[in-house]
Amino acid sequence: KACIAYAPGTVANLVCGFDILGLCLDSPADKMEVRLLDTAEIIIKSADGYPLPEDPALNTAGAPLLEMLQDLDQKVGFEIIIHKRIKPGSGIGSSAASAAGAVAAANYLLGSPFDKVQQIQYAMAGEKVASGVKHADNVAPCIYGGITLIRSIAPLDVIPLAAPDLYVSVVHPQIEVRTADARAILRQQVPLKNAIKQWGNIAGLVTGILKNDLPLIGRSLEDHIIEPVRSTLIPGFQELKKSCKEAGALGGGISGSGPSIFMLSSSRQTAQAIEGIMQETYKNLGIDYHSYVSMIN
Ligand code: HSE
Repeated sequence: KACIAYAPGTVANLVCGFDILGLCLDSPADKMEVRLLDTAEIIIKSADGYPLPEDPALNTAGAPLLEMLQDLDQKVGFEIIIHKRIKPGSGIGSSAASAAGAVAAANYLLGSPFDKVQQIQYAMAGEKVASGVKHADNVAPCIYGGITLIRSIAPLDVIPLAAPDLYVSVVHPQIEVRTADARAILRQQVPLKNAIKQWGNIAGLVTGILKNDLPLIGRSLEDHIIEPVRSTLIPGFQELKKSCKEAGALGGGISGSGPSIFMLSSSRQTAQAIEGIMQETYKNLGIDYHSYVSMIN
């Protein structure tokens, strides 16, 4: 028995919602081929020769399925063939896609014993392998689609939100920022005045999403805590953000832990113009990039 899952990229944080908000893109997506085995083992293969850890405990798709096997009282295993289409270290949920795709496919092959929250719980084991921390803001939108709010990690409380019809322009400058490093540089203390601005923005953003109030979404896409620190790792970030907003983007910022940058727009035409500005910026900086326009999926 075998199954193929397409697991799309995701944009975590949504600027002000560090570790609690995320959206699902429609592309790119990892293709995960999963086969049910009658031996209690996990076999990992990379379809296109992309170097991926073959030890399941060290692989973002393998670790969640190892946890799942421990909870099953049947002697089964899985072969996972990973077609890696989302570049690791890009900031659009590469590790989450492989983890969530493997879990969703394995769950299907077992006859769907696990609900979405349990699947997210397993997939978070993949995030622990990738970044050292079990965050759910990429795996949750990958499994639910749309935009998700993680109200709490322990116990896991995931709230799927309505997804407004918004276009997402993404640019991935070809520099690698490891999530673990981008987390290590964050300050552990937050001044109260910044925390107040931040939770005002998070509440505004969630309200804007639920009411489909685009100007409110735009006003709320501000980050007073994480972006000032992490943006120093991304050449051209501040100028690019300013130009994109001047050209009509609702707003945006660092995608996940970077280096990708995303911008939300209300029309495909604006999103394409924003993509043009992104391309121009990195051409001028002499940095290779990939860029695309997606919808919230
Ligand atoms: N919330 C995580 C972070 C997402 O920003 O570190 C990583 O993709």
